Amino acid sequence: MKTTCSFLRAAVCVPIFLVGSSGWAQQGYNPMGAAVNPLAPAGSSTESSPPSAAPNPEFGDLPDGEGAEETYYQCIACHSTAIIRQQHLSDARWDYLWTWMVKEQGMYEPDDETKSTILAYLKTHFSSER
Ligand code: HEC
Repeated sequence: MKTTCSFLRAAVCVPIFLVGSSGWAQQGYNPMGAAVNPLAPAGSSTESSPPSAAPNPEFGDLPDGEGAEETYYQCIACHSTAIIRQQHLSDARWDYLWTWMVKEQGMYEPDDETKSTILAYLKTHFSSER
């Protein structure tokens, strides 16, 4: 009797070892291929914008500051501001993303002045460098 029991238990145990090793197959959200590394050091540990700039509900909670309005109207055409607010990127990365948005997504490119206002705003409020 006892021997039968322990034999059965062994038979049941084996398949359990085979379950539960699905691993980390799913990569993080990444529309732009290899360049985005979610594990890269993000600089400061603050969650979104510097605490000094209050989110402005009129502009999708983008932090107040010069360029908030321009950024809002430029970027809201395709996605919410949340995708911007969660970023901490290097200056170079913002330049790259701008070009990506224009070239790959067909973003309308405003005049140079507006462009530099928006990029300055992004680099100020959503930076990994400062
Ligand atoms: C013409 C459409 C369009 C416009 C306008 C646009 N984007 Fe995007 N953006 C996209 C698409 C498409 C994605 C990919 C994610 C998605 O499908 O929502 C994206 C993704 C992003 C991401 C996430 C990139 C990542 O690494 O995950 C950021 C940040 C971003 N956009 C910022 C901006 C900013 C800032 C502006 C305004 C200057 C802007 N976008 C304007 C189409 C646009």
